[in-house]
Amino acid sequence: MPKVLIAGYPGAMGRYATALVNGMAGFEITAGLAPTTPSESEMPAGAKLYTSLEEIDEGVADIWLDFTVPSAVNENVTFALNHGFIPVVGTTGLSGDQVSALQALAKQKGLGGLIAPNFGMSAVLLMKFAKEAAAYFPDADVIEMHHGDKKDAPSGTALATAKLIAAGRQDQPQPQVSEESVPGALGAQVDGVAVHAVRLPGYIAHEQVLFGGPGEALTIRQDSFDRSSFMSGVKVALQKATALDELVVGLEKIL
Ligand SMILES: NC(=O)c1ccc[n+]([C@@H]2O[C@H](COP(=O)([O-])OP(=O)(O)OC[C@H]3O[C@@H](n4cnc5c(N)ncnc54)[C@H](O)[C@@H]3O)[C@@H](O)[C@H]2O)c1
Repeated sequence: MPKVLIAGYPGAMGRYATALVNGMAGFEITAGLAPTTPSESEMPAGAKLYTSLEEIDEGVADIWLDFTVPSAVNENVTFALNHGFIPVVGTTGLSGDQVSALQALAKQKGLGGLIAPNFGMSAVLLMKFAKEAAAYFPDADVIEMHHGDKKDAPSGTALATAKLIAAGRQDQPQPQVSEESVPGALGAQVDGVAVHAVRLPGYIAHEQVLFGGPGEALTIRQDSFDRSSFMSGVKVALQKATALDELVVGLEKIL
């Protein structure tokens, strides 16, 4: 029976993940990590609740499920790999260099795992379709909309989408001739794709990709209305994590 440590268990995603794993036959939550211990949580009575990495007992879990904060995720996952945990990482904000270093560490330790910028099926499909469309429409902008509390911008999904569009392009996009009279008006450039981030109350997680071509346009959009939308992806990741022999990036690679 795989044992799971949930890092960030009191957070919005951590609470959904706790309920999910509590209901998964054959899985057991044995530990949680958060800087402060909340007075109430859905963690099982026997689970060890840690407030720092230094306290964590060797072998307390097999899988390290991380829904923490961008500033902590690299240290957490490095710790997990160094101590034999299989990481399943939903936290966003890892840089490309950090991901490469974590993949090298996983290889050195003989461990697999998954880093998924988005566990939502609609977002995974949007990324897949965007890459396909980029072969025919190289001119594309990504717009992502999230709740105002989101700490990083642009979102991990928007970064991944931009990279997939860049990889899917067969022709060069039209050169940009507009000049910004206000810095940032044209978005941030990610691998030659403009990415725009919107932070507003009321939104959860949404993304659209606008493709433009001579005389026509294509828009692909996904909406996550509720954090439960991410849980089917987390479930698949937990079920497949122990069989992975490398640190995979992207849920679509294990579906
Ligand atoms: N991959 C996905 O599908 C997906 C979906 C939604 C959100 N996210 C990402 O998941 C992360 C968490 O999102 P959230 O909305 O639950 O945030 P949140 O702020 O509600 O929760 C973060 C939790 O992390 C804890 N924390 C802070 N520092 C920590 C540390 N050093 N070690 C352990 N725990 C620590 C906090 O106490 C809090 O409980 C964010 O990076 C977010 O972008 C990913």
